Amino acid sequence: MVRDIAGEFQGHIAVVTGGASGIGEGCARRLAEGGAKVIVADINMKKAKEVAAAINGHAMEIDVSDDKAVEQFADACESDIGPVSSVVTSAGVLQPPLPPDELSLETWDRVMNIDFRGTYLTCRAFGPRMAKRGRGSIVTIASVTASLSVPLHSYAPAKSAVVSLTRTLAAEWGRSGVRINAISPGATWTAALEEAVAKGERNVKGLEEVSCMGRLLTTAEIGNAAAFLCSDQSSGITGIDLVVDAGWIAGGAWHAYSGIRPTRRNSDT
Ligand SMILES: NC(=O)c1ccc[n+]([C@@H]2O[C@H](COP(=O)([O-])OP(=O)(O)OC[C@H]3O[C@@H](n4cnc5c(N)ncnc54)[C@H](O)[C@@H]3O)[C@@H](O)[C@H]2O)c1
Repeated sequence: MVRDIAGEFQGHIAVVTGGASGIGEGCARRLAEGGAKVIVADINMKKAKEVAAAINGHAMEIDVSDDKAVEQFADACESDIGPVSSVVTSAGVLQPPLPPDELSLETWDRVMNIDFRGTYLTCRAFGPRMAKRGRGSIVTIASVTASLSVPLHSYAPAKSAVVSLTRTLAAEWGRSGVRINAISPGATWTAALEEAVAKGERNVKGLEEVSCMGRLLTTAEIGNAAAFLCSDQSSGITGIDLVVDAGWIAGGAWHAYSGIRPTRRNSDT
């Protein structure tokens, strides 16, 4: 049965940080399809305006690593547009897979500041407002690397911290009707991944190979998971890390044996 999603978020105001590209754009588009008025919040205003125009939303500028700017942004959202009921924190950057003696502290700090501190600042700005109103859902975008060992000594710990923060804040605001959950995507085809591949920092074949399903994720698949966690369909769920990874965690160790089995579908032979 196909579920009718139009109207699912009618009357809702949603903020998506990093909404101008990739996973954030996928989430913004999906929430808008469900009827939400979406605030596309990004440091890249040109792209934010393009996405906002396509989904009849609002584009607003934000640097999630700037505490004062994030507070002002939350004030502006609520005074200019209205009470925000859903937030997706997708603003983030990747990092090169370098050993610690080659990874500059500047890069290490930048990744921590945007990916972890930026997530905290966004939650800190919107969570208390939602708690006072007695309702709201926040979805943080972590990563499957939070649960794996990969050569990303700032990014992966930052994402583990996002998962931990999601749990601490779930208890902080749970009794006030605010739910907060993480999504941990596996490798998802976005501008950031494309750029890392172009620089030789990621290998598409390798990323596909480690997953049970033998493929990357689409931004729409992450958007669907975010919509589920923002909607009343997940009313009993808070503090979880929803892994959407095409089976990377489940399949990764198979390469120490004979590799993941090829398809048995008649149509693929
Ligand atoms: N692509 C993947 O394979 C993958 C996998 C797991 C998790 N993630 C996470 O998903 C999120 C989105 O990544 P993506 O692949 O869609 O990247 P992307 O580059 O396509 O999108 C990221 C967006 O964040 C914005 N941004 C960057 N720094 C910002 C800042 N300081 N303030 C506000 N906006 C800022 C960028 O302008 C961009 O529009 C990130 O947190 C990333 O870590 C991505």
